Amino acid sequence: MKIAIIGAGNIGGAIASGLMQSEMGRNFSVVISDPDTAKTSQLAEQYQNISAEADNQKAVSDADIVILAVKPWLVEKVLSSIALQPSQILASVAAGITFEQLKSFCNAEVAMFRIIPNTAISLRESMNIISSCNATKEQESVIMDIFNQLGFSMLVTESQMAAGTALSSCGIAYVLKYIQAGMQAGVEMGIYPHDAMMMVAQSVKGAAELILKGDTHPASEIDKVTTPGGITIKGINILESEGFPAAIIKAMKSSK
Ligand SMILES: NC(=O)c1ccc[n+]([C@@H]2O[C@H](COP(=O)([O-])OP(=O)(O)OC[C@H]3O[C@@H](n4cnc5c(N)ncnc54)[C@H](OP(=O)(O)O)[C@@H]3O)[C@@H](O)[C@H]2O)c1
Repeated sequence: MKIAIIGAGNIGGAIASGLMQSEMGRNFSVVISDPDTAKTSQLAEQYQNISAEADNQKAVSDADIVILAVKPWLVEKVLSSIALQPSQILASVAAGITFEQLKSFCNAEVAMFRIIPNTAISLRESMNIISSCNATKEQESVIMDIFNQLGFSMLVTESQMAAGTALSSCGIAYVLKYIQAGMQAGVEMGIYPHDAMMMVAQSVKGAAELILKGDTHPASEIDKVTTPGGITIKGINILESEGFPAAIIKAMKSSK
């Protein structure tokens, strides 16, 4: 399968290298296009199945899937300068660019996907929020299979994209803020910053794994930690009275 990636920045570069490191890597031939040839040639040197291109039209000409990974304000310029074939699939990761806009920028009616990953895509641990337009079930499976190589993918309606973006793409920054605050607490209590960071980050990872691998619910996991009369319930009640849940809800809703 031939995949063209337009834009070799944080996300485009992470998709290209992540795919090569995935189990399906050898099934893909990737051409990555960017005016900055230093970025594309570095990827091409590193991976046999990646080739570098500076001309977007050449990159997309025989691709099965075109992944658009440029900044949102460049989407119109890039799409109007390339010719897509009706058999091709367009997958845009540009935040906030709707299917209506994508359609108006394209020369042909193609199957389209909007995909919002988060920065953990560089470790193939991204949450990918995906919606589709004009696509068959088979095309949806192809895109889900590809992005499942880069983390966990969920298909939603376009109307849920903004909320999904707030929860996962912006949400990763809120989790990092929690880690940062935990480090500050640790330092005040006499722990070195790096040790505190490891303690909090591994706890966040463990909490997430309990939910993801145990298919459980945060409330039942919190129940297991909060011994009656114990120290954890004191902290939980302070989080409640100081407005931690309300702040998270407000922050996520504000990012929609
Ligand atoms: N970063 C995130 O967490 C995140 C999450 C979800 C979605 N997204 C979306 O992902 C998209 C890319 O974000 P990013 O963080 O990867 O941005 P980025 O690092 O700036 O990457 C974009 C790349 O596209 C290149 N480019 C500019 N004009 C181009 C053209 N005409 N043809 C081909 N390539 C061109 C840029 O080169 P120059 O640097 O030389 O301009 C840059 O290398 C954005 O639309 C963003 O909304 C990002």
